[in-house]
Amino acid sequence: MRIDVLTIFPEYLEPLRAALLGKAIDKKLISVDVHDLRDYTHDVHKAVDDSPYGGGPGMVMKPQVWGEALDDVCKPDADGTLPRLIVPTPAGQPFTQETAREYARLPWLAFACGRYEGIDQRVVDDAAGRMQVDEVSIGDYVLVGGEVAVLVMVEAVARLLPGVLGNPASAEQDSFSDGLLEGPSYTRPELWRGLAVPDVLRSGNHKLIDRWRRDQALERTFARRPELLDRLADDQLDKHDRAL
Ligand code: ADE
Repeated sequence: MRIDVLTIFPEYLEPLRAALLGKAIDKKLISVDVHDLRDYTHDVHKAVDDSPYGGGPGMVMKPQVWGEALDDVCKPDADGTLPRLIVPTPAGQPFTQETAREYARLPWLAFACGRYEGIDQRVVDDAAGRMQVDEVSIGDYVLVGGEVAVLVMVEAVARLLPGVLGNPASAEQDSFSDGLLEGPSYTRPELWRGLAVPDVLRSGNHKLIDRWRRDQALERTFARRPELLDRLADDQLDKHDRAL
């Protein structure tokens, strides 16, 4: 998968080269190019923002700079493919595990990081004439810019790509893959500070263990995120689940 990021703070994206993602880059499973938006300015101050039409606080990122940057980075590749352009914004559609799965199937993602009060809307409207553009939020809170949201999204997507995780089963078994929160996990020792590992996990009875894990996931989801249970399809709950 090819990933491009446009930002005025390229150093903010350094963590993409660390740990799991760094290994995925070394293994050529993903390529990451971070582009400095200021390289597309033409004035001595390298200005990327201006005051908003209609007044109000904050600054808006200039369309000319973004237009040139996107024309340069999002050029059709040899097959004529363009990236999915993702614009992180608190005003976007929610980013979920389902979004991560959708993005993991695409060959090319480009992220446009806005700062200040956002990017002139015409940048999105213009780009949408050539490629699919998603304005996406990672949660109901406001960050100072899209960079951290890009780190979150790229990590969630990259771990789903074949070969990125050591054990692919981890991606299949974690929270949200079955629409539920994952239950608790334990490792050695059996007794720690007077707290014991649940007996069932040491029973060796895998049918019982699976049932116990499923019950824990259901109970935790009910306690912490009850709205997730309403979103489950009928066939996602068995008769034991319903009895709980
Ligand atoms: N930029 C600022 N806040 C954001 C959020 N919650 N999600 C995505 N991008 C953002």
